[in-house]
Amino acid sequence: MTSDRSCYVYIVLPGDVQFTTAGRFRIRHGPRGTATGEFVYGRSYLDHPEAVEFDPVELRLADRLYRTGRMAGFFGAVRDAMPDYWGRFLIERRLGRSPLAEFDYLTEGPDDRAGGLGFGPTVDPPAPRLHFPGTVQLAEAIFDEGTSMGGARPKAVVEDGDALWLAKFSRLQDRWNDPRVEHALLLLARECGIRTAPSRMERAGDRDVLLVRRFDRERSGDGAGWHRHRMASALTLLRTDDSPTGRERWSYLALADEVRRASARPRDDLRELFTRMCFNAAVSNSDDHPRNHAILARGRSWRLAPAYDLTPAPAHSLERDLSMICGPKGRRARKDNLVAGAGRFMMSREDAEAIFAEVVQTVRARWLGAMCRAGVGTADRETVRSAFLPDGLFFTREP
Ligand SMILES: Nc1ncnc2c1ncn2[C@@H]1O[C@H](COP(=O)(O)OP(=O)(O)OP(=O)(O)O)[C@@H](O)[C@H]1O
Ligand SMILES: [Mg+2]
Repeated sequence: MTSDRSCYVYIVLPGDVQFTTAGRFRIRHGPRGTATGEFVYGRSYLDHPEAVEFDPVELRLADRLYRTGRMAGFFGAVRDAMPDYWGRFLIERRLGRSPLAEFDYLTEGPDDRAGGLGFGPTVDPPAPRLHFPGTVQLAEAIFDEGTSMGGARPKAVVEDGDALWLAKFSRLQDRWNDPRVEHALLLLARECGIRTAPSRMERAGDRDVLLVRRFDRERSGDGAGWHRHRMASALTLLRTDDSPTGRERWSYLALADEVRRASARPRDDLRELFTRMCFNAAVSNSDDHPRNHAILARGRSWRLAPAYDLTPAPAHSLERDLSMICGPKGRRARKDNLVAGAGRFMMSREDAEAIFAEVVQTVRARWLGAMCRAGVGTADRETVRSAFLPDGLFFTREP
């Protein structure tokens, strides 16, 4: 039987740049390969006047033992702080072994992970990381030490100006200039009134790199460190995962319910979420899975995080599915389905129709211009053209 593993969990509290020890996370291995996760907030943390919860659904601030058997014992808040395909690949490459125990992917990656948490073996937290490669070292940054940020695409965290940026590189198997097309969609989303992370293009050697400003890090006023804002993915809010049964719970409607409960400004955030859902339908972003949505706490309270990771999926078919349920008719990206869920977003049907119409109009008028501004070439523009406003978006089916 594999032995139990445990670590301390640290957090950078709102307004701070140093870690505070917040609790202890343990994985217990049972018979027949079962694994259970356990988490407790420390007494001194619970007594801390500035203590905050890790997330608003699963690990609320309370003096109790939390247990989970889901996701091999990894709570949503812990999973959100771990690397995915890309970061794992680099850890395996550095250690020369694969696959590793799940716990190693948590502790072996660099301390640049998403959100406010840190993990380590000692009760006293380490000094949090201050320095990151600059944009001039972009090319080296991608492999040198890896990153604990999630996602499948090659990426690195770099420092430029007063901010940290997520640098996203192209891959050999890409069908188009992915960094530029993603930049174009971020520009287009902004034109639709969607709050997105600022982004810009850079070069690393002969490759294009997309820089997306990290919204979970902010340099402190005195420049002495980084504030770390807590983040919880929609996967965590929906208490689900990537497994086939977990996918049944991927839903904008259920996410709207969670955002309504967690957000300090539910009406604004639900309107924003609805706009993003319409946008994803209008540009065939079928990679809109729940790790590509999050809530963020810049201080004590939670808001919907800016939009990120937007990609078009061109296809010949007339009708498209989103990866999350987007209306009472399931995942179908069709106007009648999208607007039928208006009530869950605290909106009237008329408001929902107006937002849909405005997104469609903006995408129609501006998508090509956004591609050009992002420097997407003619051939790539033709390749992705069919992603924009597919005919099926406008189908209506009588009940
Ligand atoms: N601007 C940002 N600020 C802070 N965190 C971010 C930002 N953009 C992305 N992230 C975090 O980093 C993770 C990976 O980023 P992103 O989704 O852009 O990468 P990806 O490799 O394209 O993902 P996927 O596997 O979905 O294709 C996200 O799931 C999110 O947790
Ligand atoms: Mg992603």
